[in-house]
Amino acid sequence: MSVIQLEDVVKRYDSGAETIEALKAVDFRAERGEMVVVTGPSGSGKSTMLNLIGLLDTPTAGTVRLDGRNVTDFDEDERTEERRSQLGFVFQDFHLLPMLTAAENVELPSMWDTDVDRRDRAVDLLGRVGLSDRLTHTPDELSGGQKQRVAIARSLINEPDILLADEPTGNLDQETGGTVLDEIARLKAAENIAVVAITHDEQLVQYADRVVRLVDGVVQ
Ligand SMILES: Nc1ncnc2c1ncn2[C@@H]1O[C@H](COP(=O)(O)OP(=O)(O)O)[C@@H](O)[C@H]1O
Ligand SMILES: [Mg+2]
Repeated sequence: MSVIQLEDVVKRYDSGAETIEALKAVDFRAERGEMVVVTGPSGSGKSTMLNLIGLLDTPTAGTVRLDGRNVTDFDEDERTEERRSQLGFVFQDFHLLPMLTAAENVELPSMWDTDVDRRDRAVDLLGRVGLSDRLTHTPDELSGGQKQRVAIARSLINEPDILLADEPTGNLDQETGGTVLDEIARLKAAENIAVVAITHDEQLVQYADRVVRLVDGVVQ
């Protein structure tokens, strides 16, 4: 069973007089232990697709299944709980809180768990992304690649089934971007999670188990 499944998913945006069909009957699947890289030109619907998988938005038509469960009609509370427990997110601009240390940023999504060992898990995750010596650094004391590694560690703190990354290398030079994707690929295998990563850098598709190309809201 696929951990991510989109069936006939349509997303339309109504903005005033104009309707934009960002996704046109998209079918998509991803499996545990698989890293799917989604490419395609700007405006082709990549972020829209990722946001639907991540329950940050709802489709106009079609079905979203996570781990075989139909989550399309989940209400806001169910979506929030699903995001917290099953989904990790990594964004182009890192989204780290500037006043918190690396370790505190990693711990943050687990704050409303009464799990006493979350600091240990944060330290462990930062070690696994090569940042054992940066635990108490704040984001402004870290390089771009290090910031993205902190964000990757943070995305894994609640032991998600799925990691979603929207242009995770967009603010990094190509070599650093390659290292970051390499890191994601390693963690994916170790944690047996599904990764969906967007990039428009065609060099980075080498890290993918599978490449999906979106053009004009259609999977090619
Ligand atoms: N919130 C929104 N409201 C209206 N149009 C949107 C919105 N989000 C995205 N779009 C439009 O949907 C299309 C796909 O956008 P997006 O998924 O962000 O593409 P990509 O990530 O591939 O660059 C674009 O034409 C974009 O302008
Ligand atoms: Mg985008």
